[in-house]
Amino acid sequence: MSFLSAARLEKIRSDVTQLHISIRDRNLVYLDNAATTLKPKAVVDRVSQYYLNETSNVHRGAHYLAETGTVSYETARLTVAKFISAEKSAEVVFTRGTTESLNLIAQCLALLGELPGEHQARGLRAGDEILLPEFEHHSNIVPWQLVCERAGAHLKTIPITQAGEIDLEAMRRLITAKTKLISFSCCSNVLGTITNVADVVAIAKESNVIVVVDAAQMITAEEIKVQNWGADFVVFSGHKLFAPFGIGVLWAGGDWLDVLPPYQGGGSMIDSVSFEKTTWANAPQKFEAGTPNVGGAIGLGRAIEWFNDIGAQDAMAHAKALSEAAREQLSSIEGLRIYGEARNRTSLVSFNLEGVHASDVGTLLDQQGIAIRAGHHCCQPLMKRLGISATARASFSVYNSLSEVDALFSAVKKAKEILL
Ligand code: ALA
Repeated sequence: MSFLSAARLEKIRSDVTQLHISIRDRNLVYLDNAATTLKPKAVVDRVSQYYLNETSNVHRGAHYLAETGTVSYETARLTVAKFISAEKSAEVVFTRGTTESLNLIAQCLALLGELPGEHQARGLRAGDEILLPEFEHHSNIVPWQLVCERAGAHLKTIPITQAGEIDLEAMRRLITAKTKLISFSCCSNVLGTITNVADVVAIAKESNVIVVVDAAQMITAEEIKVQNWGADFVVFSGHKLFAPFGIGVLWAGGDWLDVLPPYQGGGSMIDSVSFEKTTWANAPQKFEAGTPNVGGAIGLGRAIEWFNDIGAQDAMAHAKALSEAAREQLSSIEGLRIYGEARNRTSLVSFNLEGVHASDVGTLLDQQGIAIRAGHHCCQPLMKRLGISATARASFSVYNSLSEVDALFSAVKKAKEILL
């Protein structure tokens, strides 16, 4: 297990001011990082600076602030591209988050399948099948359902194993000539399962199947190298990476951003407009209609710098080590069941106390100043598969400490005493 030194941790914690507030007269223990990470002061300061002194629109206007704003926005795109090892920043589209990125891909593929042209067969069409693992969250289910209905395509689920991993052999068997696409979370937000993307891509590409990787939870779990993965699309949100809400990323490889038609029109995404015919700007602008979230993108760029400055690899290892320590402690509590036994896992633990609803555990922990998430985690099909309605989930980040793991353990034991 690889924890950060006390001195390094203290320095990181001093930059995350929210860790020092009191909740119900107790020091906050924030263990809901899979829902959203806290925002370091360095990130908030950078966003404030933009709004207080640098506000301007981008990609339009010839004045000084318009130019510096555009440079800051495009620099943030470059920072994202480097962080995920993209070949060039033009492969990075800014969106509102993971959900919007997935909707964008789904809607654009449906449009591609409808529009006559040389690439029509690459789009979603009647009879096509889309494969999703059983542990998917709603953001990676519902956008596909919407387009399946429109295109006459169908969803199929890939079974998961007892341990909570994608059953790759079952996936291989499910792929037929009708399979158009596989979309999956490479890091499950409930089970913590980390899937080796290259394994899925290798099987999918034998049959020329499009691969969409939802990296919402992965973005702080392991290093992402999109070029090595070989997937077609990778998406994630800024707010799970210490950045503000409302900014996210869609990365697309190969010629996808050239081939896909835009699904939203407006300013910035055009080359020329007339009432008779409009032509599109090149990617990524083609997919960024209207005024973008400039402050959010700049905040995301600063958040990545902050993460890199503290040492992203060490930070990820620290969060995982905390989660494994929590898992070990919690599993010593009689009647406590942990969900997810994958060989490679991210920094979260989902659990239930036998005979107790997860929300009651969440409420009792909250009364002790500990923030966790309790519920279905936007994964109702997975809950059904597990035969439960909810779990309690503690999720860790770089600024959490071993004493907070101890606090969780004591609080769960106390909750058990009260509830049973
Ligand atoms: N997807 C986020 C979670 O798992 C919101 O909590």
